[in-house]
Amino acid sequence: MRTLSNILVTGGAGFIGSNFIHYLLSQPDFKGRVINADKLTYAGNPENLTDIEERFGGTRYFFEQADICKFDTIKSLFRKYSIDTVVHFAAESHVDRSIFGPKDFIETNIVGTFNLLECARNLWNDRKDGLFHHVSTDEVFGSLGDTGSFSEATPYQPTSPYSASKAASDHLVRAYHHTYGVPVTISNCSNNFGPRQFPEKMIPLMILNLLEEEPLPVYGDGKNVRDWLYVDDHSAALWLIIRKGREGETYNIGGENEWRNIDLVHLLCDKMAEATGREKDFYRKLITFVKDRPGHDRRYAIDCTKIKKELGWKQSLGFSENLDTTIRWYRNNLSWVDKIRSGEYKTWIQRNYLNR
Ligand code: NAD
Ligand code: DAU
Repeated sequence: MRTLSNILVTGGAGFIGSNFIHYLLSQPDFKGRVINADKLTYAGNPENLTDIEERFGGTRYFFEQADICKFDTIKSLFRKYSIDTVVHFAAESHVDRSIFGPKDFIETNIVGTFNLLECARNLWNDRKDGLFHHVSTDEVFGSLGDTGSFSEATPYQPTSPYSASKAASDHLVRAYHHTYGVPVTISNCSNNFGPRQFPEKMIPLMILNLLEEEPLPVYGDGKNVRDWLYVDDHSAALWLIIRKGREGETYNIGGENEWRNIDLVHLLCDKMAEATGREKDFYRKLITFVKDRPGHDRRYAIDCTKIKKELGWKQSLGFSENLDTTIRWYRNNLSWVDKIRSGEYKTWIQRNYLNR
């Protein structure tokens, strides 16, 4: 039986991590504590968890500003909170940034993961009730042609510095299980969307540009395909794996919801037209084809039969409804967006976290 009493969530102030903490602390069958260790890079925003801090701060929720690249810091957190479970989200996550500056990706995604694994190996010893869950991406498998999908057995063929760094971290996690017996699970997930996603990623970037009536930059010919999954469905899959996933196993998680970028941008334009009463064409005319991302993977698609059959997971219904919820969230949280863009939230962090 897994203990699940003191869960270290790394990168919990980011997009998926913060949604996961909300999800976890609303599960009636979870009674433990969550320790959120986040460096607060440009992508980390503790304001994503203000309500959690108010409800659970100091009792079941603890925030620690910590860099996973610093071994001693992480080790002291393992000791301080008697960590028995790790859910490892912390990463540099944006492909475009990895192309222009890969160094942070190598440090955080590879060395940071190595440090966490070393802590689990050294401090858990032979303890068998712990779990190190590594959150990874479908991008480790490379790019698909027009047909087929990635299964757990697909050979790794990462193509960007981001995906190569995530592939390296996946291999390290498996090696620590195989060599030292560290109890691990891994998940490889497709593109997420939902509230609190940093607006450099495609869906929130398009939503905000639509709201501001700015050009919508579509890379290349717009025919690259992504498999979109609502972020709460990802959290539900992770919670199942953490409780019931088999040690040493990998689980693919996906939306079974493939969209060409250009078709998805059209859909977002049409949704905005419906919301504002303007002509569809008004928004579609904002579409601007721009220079392609170097090495842009053409298509991703996930076969998630294993997690469905073994753990009973399934996606929630309604891509359109989930998109509506996401659009509504951004419309209602423009001050969140302003803060992120202006850098004001960094001052907020200093006031609330760094000086306490
Ligand atoms: P994000 O960029 O929104 O958040 C990353 C978080 O990690 C931020 O809060 C940041 O401050 C923190 N962080 C970065 N470097 C750190 C360090 N050295 N020490 C401690 N914290 C650090 O990312 P996301 O989109 O929420 O992705 C989370 C995880 O899920 C990543 O591992 C990513 O590879 C994986 N993933 C993402 C997607 C997706 O569609 N976004 C899909 C599949 C897998
Ligand atoms: O597949 C999972 C991965 O999905 C995660 O591992 C990554 O962390 C996450 O960032 C995401 O990577 P992508 O590169 O697929 O996501 P992004 O939102 O950057 O781009 C989605 C698609 O849209 C991609 O084909 C590039 C395209 N795009 C993106 C942006 C930002 C555009 O056409 N225009 C844009 O402005």
